[in-house]
Amino acid sequence: NLLKEIEHLEQLFTIETKKLKEITDHFVNELEKGLSVEGGSIPMNPTWVMSFPTGYETGTFLALDMGGTNLRVCQITLTDQKSEFDIIQSKYRLPEELKTGEADELWEYIADCLMQFIETHHGDVSKLDKIPLGFTFSYPATQNYIDEGILQRWTKGFDITGVEGHNVVPMFESALSRRGVPIKLSALINDTTGTLIASAYTDPKMKIGCIFGTGCNAAYMEDCGSIPKLAHLNLPPETPMAINCEWGAFDNEHKVLPRTPYDAKIDSDSPRPGQQAFEKMIAGLYLGEIFRLVMVDLHEKDETRIFENQDISKLQRPYSLDSSFLSSIEEDPFENLSETADLFRNQLGISPNSAELELIRRTAELIGTRAARLSACGVAAISKKKGFKECHVGADGSVFNKYPNFKARGAAALREILEWPDKTDPNEEDPIEILAAEDGSGVGAALIAALTLQRVKQGN
Ligand code: BG6
Ligand code: GLC
Repeated sequence: NLLKEIEHLEQLFTIETKKLKEITDHFVNELEKGLSVEGGSIPMNPTWVMSFPTGYETGTFLALDMGGTNLRVCQITLTDQKSEFDIIQSKYRLPEELKTGEADELWEYIADCLMQFIETHHGDVSKLDKIPLGFTFSYPATQNYIDEGILQRWTKGFDITGVEGHNVVPMFESALSRRGVPIKLSALINDTTGTLIASAYTDPKMKIGCIFGTGCNAAYMEDCGSIPKLAHLNLPPETPMAINCEWGAFDNEHKVLPRTPYDAKIDSDSPRPGQQAFEKMIAGLYLGEIFRLVMVDLHEKDETRIFENQDISKLQRPYSLDSSFLSSIEEDPFENLSETADLFRNQLGISPNSAELELIRRTAELIGTRAARLSACGVAAISKKKGFKECHVGADGSVFNKYPNFKARGAAALREILEWPDKTDPNEEDPIEILAAEDGSGVGAALIAALTLQRVKQGN
């Protein structure tokens, strides 16, 4: 009866080519809608990043990355050698309780980390001029200027009161000034925009920046003439404007994505039900949880009763499995899945039998494959919308970099959607290649700060 269960899961989680194409076509329309005056569920946020770097930007900048998992502070020096930079950085753990606490505690903690970094690398802060900073704040934010960010809503499980609907820059700056941290915020950016700009710095074929990590999102360069919601500003139509899509919100209306009951439960139990429908099926924060919900369901179902008579209390804890748990299952090299058995025994106190191990492996494959194939729909949609026939896409994040086969599965899906002929030579590049990006919230943030200062100097 487990074989039957596997078949059922295959039906639930497999997305055939035809469906991928249908999703992509709907996605293209939704991207357009997000740029319109009425708007849609994909925010398509203008970022005020209005050019690609030339490779000859110079200067020393701080960068702060508040991405979701870690807090990172970097100092980047863009040298006068084309596309070369030096970087020093420190990582700080973002305490779990801060993600659902009070705003002040978050800003104070961040200000402390910045102060510690500056004191370590510059000594006495009282003698320093203010250092320009690029702040990578990777959540949906409305920006009327590059140094503004009105938080539209928290994503990725964050739920800090008193921030949604407010500009985060004054909150951040007042924490800095309370502590006398010598920093001047030059630009507030999204990790996808940083990824786009950092990748284009070393590879001019880069046209899209993506994050497949704790969250999932992309940015690309639009022309202002194609952004009706900015028409009132009368910018010349060919002016470039990087758009942070916030595509995690794609299909919040549930029109096209083949959601399973497990996806519905992830959503209803999350701090923001009804939001981030696409992201909740793809991003690293949720992959382990989808898997856990399948396992618990099959334990409780009379027909299957997996892990019968075993103590599953650890498995019952929400969000107890992260995506690295699934990665380890998919990476188990042994025919008898002995590493997976060890993982279940050590982490969950469960001893699966061999049929259960087969089910576990197949479930992980199905969830990982679905995520990769869905993410290709987003890349295909931007490419179709912009008419990109050949380009590079810079991607970053733990899922892209660490999840086994994610890249190959995504590339295969892109090939199906865009109907490329089979390769004659396996080493040949695909017309649109998704490649590992340069560090977006480090060098990308520094470049955007540099481009912004240049623009200010030129009076634009
Ligand atoms: C990092 C980028 O490598 O990846 C960050 O520099 C980005 O800008 C992060 O936010 C996303 O990955 P994850 O897995 O930490 O969410
Ligand atoms: C979430 C955030 C988005 C970010 C992405 C990747 O989708 O809303 O701003 O780019 O995660 O970190």
